[in-house]
Amino acid sequence: MAARRLDPNQPAAFAFTPENLAWAKTTISNYPEGKQASAVIPLLWRAQEQHQNWLPEPAIRLVADMLGMAYIRVYEIATFYTMFQLSPVGKKAHVQVCHTTPCMLRGSDALKEVCERVIHHDPHHLSADGDFSWEPVECLGSCANAPMVQIFSDTYEDLTPESFEKLLEAFKRGTPPKPGPQTGRQASCPAGGPTTLKDFAKA
Ligand code: FES
Repeated sequence: MAARRLDPNQPAAFAFTPENLAWAKTTISNYPEGKQASAVIPLLWRAQEQHQNWLPEPAIRLVADMLGMAYIRVYEIATFYTMFQLSPVGKKAHVQVCHTTPCMLRGSDALKEVCERVIHHDPHHLSADGDFSWEPVECLGSCANAPMVQIFSDTYEDLTPESFEKLLEAFKRGTPPKPGPQTGRQASCPAGGPTTLKDFAKA
C-alpha cells in the first residue's frame, strides 16, 4: 500500500452543517464519560461524506477538538484506514479494488486493468472528467464473493471485467445497480444453488 499523506491543497476551514453537528453531538453522547474518543471513526466518516467524500485536514482538527484528542492521534487514524480518503476523489465514484489473496486469485488484476484503462492509469488520480478515481485496497471482508470492489459505502461483488465495466458505465449514467453480487446469486450462497440438504423427503 502506498504511503498515505494529506493532500497538499487544503481548504482554509471545515465546519459541520447544523444537521451533521447535531448528529455528531448525539453520537458523542452515546459513549460513557471519558470515552468520547470512541466516536472518532463515525465523526471522521460523517465529515468525509459532507466534504465530497474526502477528508480535509481542517476536518481532522475539528474532530480532534470535539473529542478532546491530540491532533496527531486523529491524524494517525485518518491516515491508517483506507476508508478515509485524503485527496479529492471522483464525483460519481471512487472505486476501491480489493487485491488481497482471495480476490487476486479470482481475478482482481483484471479489474485493476479496467480501472487503468477506463479511469486513469495510476491510482489516486482523477479521470479526465473528474467523475472517477480508483485505488487498490486490502481485504474488504467479502472474500466469499471475490473479486469485488467498494464504491463509497457499498460493495459490488462476484465481478468479471465485463460486468465491472458495465458497473462503471451505470455510475457514469447516475444509475448504479443494487449493491451486492452482480451475478444474481443471493449473498454468498452457492453460485449454482444449494448443493447439500436438497432431499427434503429424508429430512
Ligand atoms: S480478499 Fe477481497 S474481500 Fe477479502
